[in-house]
Amino acid sequence: MLTIKKRIAEQIVSGVRTINADAELSVNDVAAMLEYPPDPNMGDLAFPCFKLSKTLRRAPAQIASAIAEHFSDPAVSRVEVVGGYFNLYLDGEYLTCHLLSEVSLKKDRYGSPANGDGRVVVFDYSSPNLAKPFHIGHLGTTVIGHSLRRLHEFAGYRCVGINYVGDWGTQFGKLIVAYKKWGDRETVENGGVDALVDLYVRINNAISGNEELGIPADPALADEARAEFCKMEQGDEENLALWRWLVKLSLKANDEIYAQLGISFDSYKGESNYTNEMPVQVQKLRDAGLLKLDDGASIVDLSEYNMPPCLILKRDGSSLYPTRDIAAAYDRKQLYDFDKAVYVTSAGQSLHFAQWFKVVELMGYDWADKLVHVPYGTVSINGAKLATRTGNVILLRDLFALATEKVAGIMEEKSPNLQDKDKIAEQIGVGAVVFYYLSNTRMKDINFVMEDALSFEGNTGPYVQYTYARACSILARAEQPVGGKLVITAPEETALAKILSMFEEKVTEALETYEPSVIARYILSVAAAFNRFYHNCSILGAENEQVRATRQMLTEATKTVLGNAFDLICLKKIEKI
Ligand code: ARG
Repeated sequence: MLTIKKRIAEQIVSGVRTINADAELSVNDVAAMLEYPPDPNMGDLAFPCFKLSKTLRRAPAQIASAIAEHFSDPAVSRVEVVGGYFNLYLDGEYLTCHLLSEVSLKKDRYGSPANGDGRVVVFDYSSPNLAKPFHIGHLGTTVIGHSLRRLHEFAGYRCVGINYVGDWGTQFGKLIVAYKKWGDRETVENGGVDALVDLYVRINNAISGNEELGIPADPALADEARAEFCKMEQGDEENLALWRWLVKLSLKANDEIYAQLGISFDSYKGESNYTNEMPVQVQKLRDAGLLKLDDGASIVDLSEYNMPPCLILKRDGSSLYPTRDIAAAYDRKQLYDFDKAVYVTSAGQSLHFAQWFKVVELMGYDWADKLVHVPYGTVSINGAKLATRTGNVILLRDLFALATEKVAGIMEEKSPNLQDKDKIAEQIGVGAVVFYYLSNTRMKDINFVMEDALSFEGNTGPYVQYTYARACSILARAEQPVGGKLVITAPEETALAKILSMFEEKVTEALETYEPSVIARYILSVAAAFNRFYHNCSILGAENEQVRATRQMLTEATKTVLGNAFDLICLKKIEKI
């Protein structure tokens, strides 16, 4: 649609120039101003002329008439001047023809804005604290982060995915205490996530107490944990060996989740790697006169920017989260020379990012304006009894398992003879959770309702995956379509072609706003248009070969667009359900 929009925009610009030869108006501006009217009676595209009224000093209707007067384009079958709008009706056959040739030419690149030009973007996402359970709070950063990365890759950026794991901190002290008290190598080694979660839950219950379980609080254990961590920091080999082992087990457990989501990273360089690199940045801050002493701690005063101070060194000289982030960003700039560095975390960390981004700017680094923080809202869960085992954290793994189990039940009824049933149930179950999550704008706080996510009928992951499989199954039964002229005979065909033509614009919007939800919602509109087409137009049994060929090609284009869009938001393409 963008090429068509641009061409229309060119004509609008020439129309405007008949009123004012020197009007400052670019084709791109006009293309961006073209709207899709919500009501089809207002045309397929509309140009709001009142936006130009002031600069041209003409009434909007006059501008619209001037544009309409000389307008002619093969993609447009009719134009209209209504109020201050210049409305355009697209020619279904032209549009479909244009769409189908674009899709068959570009295939898995169809929809790409192709404007990344190989520029490097670094994505810091998922980045869980190790030795702690991987819970639903991590879903957001993991799938939003990965989708943003996929969107950038699709647009032609070179992307580096970094899992900046929290592999250093007092949580390891706790786990070491728990292990020394209650664990043994074999149980933990063989027990995987469960064994680690058990130790983690047990030590936390022991430190803070748990009335329900009748466990009294024992704060002395917290001191023990701190002491074990301190030993790690001082290089105690026994603890460091334990730490390396626990990190390895934790990473392995998380990898199972990443595999289910089809996600992998280019780097796992986590927090522990920056211990030695931080002093360099601290010295730079000191040399630049940015450090201030505040009750023994070193801070950067940010009151001028309406923010609380950024803490650089604690009283005891140990460094902090922001300091480590500054060192890591510097390191990434050296390693990858990024054009943009994107950080995806919950909105709870927005201040942290605003603070250290500012500090980087004050330090005079010329890449300070290339740092982007992408926040998201909270997730809570309704109706899923998953929390009991782990206190109040819900493991992502358990959520995926429950979704998979429910899907398997539904599929047992729907398609009992399907091959690879277990694998497909898992892909649909995981996809359902991911899709439910990503179809909401990222800042929204989400309450997860399992029944809603899993329904095969609502606006869900299973529904869109089912639609994709439907297109695949039609194509698998189809014969090679005949060549020759396309024929459009039903409004559902044009409606589908229009939606499929918008893909690239949606990708651009998702990229500009860092919103994978734009893609998820677009997928829903494609699925709705395709299903209307499917129910109203016989595809393989069409009245003649030409009509059948057109419909088959529209089905093929739907499959390509849905498939490309699924790839952007961590949904698996399942051909048979
Ligand atoms: N490990 C942190 C946490 O779990 C998130 C890290 C985000 N990335 C970063 N560069 N700070 O809260």
